[in-house]
Amino acid sequence: MTLKLSVIGCGYLGATHAACMSSLGFEVVGIDTDPHKVELLSRGELPFYEPGLDTLLAAEMKTGRLSFTTDFAAVADADVHFICVGTPQSKDGLAADLTYVKSSVAAIAPFLKDGSLVVGKSTVPVGTAQGLRDQLAETAPQADLAWNPEFLREGFAVEDTLTPNRLVVGVANDRAEEILKEVYEPVIALGTPWIRADLPTAELVKVAANSFLATKISFINAMAEVCEAAGGDVTVLAKAIGYDPRIGSRFLQAGIGFGGGCLPKDIRAFMARAQELGADQALEFLREIDNINLRARQRVIDVVRADLSEDLTQYKIAVLGATFKPDSDDVRDSPALDIAAQLQAAGAQVVVHDPKGIEPARKRFPNLDYAEKVVDAVKGADAILHLTEWKEYRELDPSVIGQLVKQKFLIDGRNMLDRNLWRNAGWRVHALGRTD
Ligand code: UDX
Repeated sequence: MTLKLSVIGCGYLGATHAACMSSLGFEVVGIDTDPHKVELLSRGELPFYEPGLDTLLAAEMKTGRLSFTTDFAAVADADVHFICVGTPQSKDGLAADLTYVKSSVAAIAPFLKDGSLVVGKSTVPVGTAQGLRDQLAETAPQADLAWNPEFLREGFAVEDTLTPNRLVVGVANDRAEEILKEVYEPVIALGTPWIRADLPTAELVKVAANSFLATKISFINAMAEVCEAAGGDVTVLAKAIGYDPRIGSRFLQAGIGFGGGCLPKDIRAFMARAQELGADQALEFLREIDNINLRARQRVIDVVRADLSEDLTQYKIAVLGATFKPDSDDVRDSPALDIAAQLQAAGAQVVVHDPKGIEPARKRFPNLDYAEKVVDAVKGADAILHLTEWKEYRELDPSVIGQLVKQKFLIDGRNMLDRNLWRNAGWRVHALGRTD
């Protein structure tokens, strides 16, 4: 008999997982405490922007296999329960806030049927899974718990779920592994590497992967600082070192650094957990990774000040991009918005444009000015800051934009625009990590 699945928490991770599991043929119920989110999803509509997931969700709703509810009792029918709730940075420190993970496991415990498996997908501090397993042993001894970290990238969520580059399962026994093999059978059949680990290793794999990625980005941004000081070009340097297969060329894009709902909070939570474990020295370098990352934002502000004036009160700055990366409407810990807000706090008049992120940005920074069109954002600007590399910004015509601005001054915070094209149209261009 085919397994029935439940997905607890229908945000980015959960909504994607629910729709993808339904597309594999499973009956899936998604549960979320937010009635508005459940209502939207039940109509086949996404509460956020993610390429390809909208059409998949709408199609899966039509099959009748996928449903959403606010009622935790709905898990009673399911055999495998994926915990996909958020683990944000806690308000009073670096550690992860585990409130939602703990409360969702407690909420489903009374309804778990005999032999069911709870599977954590959320990113948690190492040791959490064992704690939850112990808790279940008391509240729902008929159920077991495993951990199956998720590596999906925003903008590629469906692809990363259905064709991941590996599947990692943390289990305490063979039975839990067998159940997960049954769930992922079509994905395994594609040749996806399958890694069985114990619970703590599975939890660590996720934070280790994100720490490595963050380190790679901060490494190249540190090189950008040195290139600026020494008169070099970080994009050429990145290309040259990237040809060494031991280094690899991906995630060496220098610029204003990483943001989003994962990388920044994951490295901080990892440091906090290591400290609790007495292994803080091992992760001391992550503090520097975080510092380099935040410094990249500051460097943009320094360039604006050095070029325009220390006192920015008379200047208008157009910020292109609000989201933490393109093809997403996510503005969590967005470097672009952070820079925009800091420049506004310094007295500049700042207008922000983004193809998808204006509404979420307005919720976080209601005092910033927003423009629906690039031409409106740049009108009368003394500087244009290219801070999120949306494709449409690469298609801008510098001559046309040049007629709208007050000063032809561009900072490319992502090293993605064609500098020569802009320079030939009479622009002063500053690209991070490039001196010429
Ligand atoms: C990340 C991980 O990639 C994913 O595996 C994990 O599951 C969740 O966290 P995501 O947050 O979607 O995914 O974004 P990612 O594509 O990793 O980019 C993170 C940030 O790094 C973005 O702000 C991006 O602009 C920045 N970045 C990325 C760089 O500045 N330079 C690069 O070379 C690559």
